[in-house]
Amino acid sequence: MTYSRIVGTGRYLPEKVLTNFDLEKMVDTTDEWIRTRTGVERRHVVSPEQTTSDMCCEAAKIAMDDAGVKPEDIDLVITGTTSPDVVFPNVSTIIQHRLGIPACTAFSLEAACTGFIYALTTADKFIKAGEAECALVMGAECITKLIDWDDRNTCVLFGDGAGAAIVKPSDEPGIISCALGADGQHRELLHYPAGVSKNLAAAGTEDANIIMKGNEVFKVAVKTLGAIAEEALDKAGVSKEELDWLVPHQANIRIIQAMAKRLNMPMEKVILTVQDHGNTSAASVPMALDVGRRDGRVKEGQLILMEAFGGGFTWGSVLMRM
Ligand code: ACO
Repeated sequence: MTYSRIVGTGRYLPEKVLTNFDLEKMVDTTDEWIRTRTGVERRHVVSPEQTTSDMCCEAAKIAMDDAGVKPEDIDLVITGTTSPDVVFPNVSTIIQHRLGIPACTAFSLEAACTGFIYALTTADKFIKAGEAECALVMGAECITKLIDWDDRNTCVLFGDGAGAAIVKPSDEPGIISCALGADGQHRELLHYPAGVSKNLAAAGTEDANIIMKGNEVFKVAVKTLGAIAEEALDKAGVSKEELDWLVPHQANIRIIQAMAKRLNMPMEKVILTVQDHGNTSAASVPMALDVGRRDGRVKEGQLILMEAFGGGFTWGSVLMRM
């Protein structure tokens, strides 16, 4: 049986950093409120001309270098994002062309903060089916371009960035199990009400903003993430105690702490980036994985659980050996 395995990672963060103290000058908030409620201390913000594909190309080059892969080796490009450059061409085809990757299967998928988990799960299926030999999988977001900087409820939470992974076939896992889910019944708890076939004129204007009933999202997130983590472990017949690392979606330190508790994992076994990046939506899991690998904490052969929850709602987890 062929498995798939992550053989390289990379990340890119925009140059501009916005601290909680900067935000104190913009809206009625305090560093103390933001840190204690969310764990966020600073976030990176794209420049007006910077795009999602700009960030993806930088993250992808680092991941390709890490994996020792050349553009011509890649035959599948998948990007999880809700903030692509334009409606079409698809952001993955823009990235494919800019990186000099020969014509191949390239598409993006939109699952809010769960975008990378959905993209990685999809790449895993392509590879297991023998349909791809080398996948470039990314999670990226220019989410600050959707934010109303006068709304303290949301502007303090988010940041921009891109994470990338190179995924190849392997005789041994690699990816052991994936679990995905989605349910639109609570969609009004977390949504962006402007788009293409609805409210086109409002997209990117001050009439559109991320709308979130934060404390209700919080409750559903904790409950659902606990269940999806256990589903991935059960599918693989792996116990919580065997996990070396939890690489969670970085939305809120308190959600992450609740997840770690449910998995009986001390916080020393959790890769945390929320303090430095804020919630970067689809970019948060691949960037956190890259941080853990590059600072030497996440080592080859270790057992890792990645999980995410986002607008939709969508949710998912991937259990893998590094
Ligand atoms: N500074 C100061 N006060 C604030 C701020 C701020 N930046 N934002 C809100 N407040 C106020 C509110 O107005 C409210 O005041 P009131 O009591 O006078 O009405 C008070 O703080 C408490 O507000 P709550 O919303 O109850 O605060 P809570 O403790 O729930 O924290 C938060 C809010 C941080 C948003 C939290 O609920 C959260 O993180 N929820 C989950 C978010 C999440 O996981 N999203 C999913 C992924 S995002 C995606 O998919 C794109």
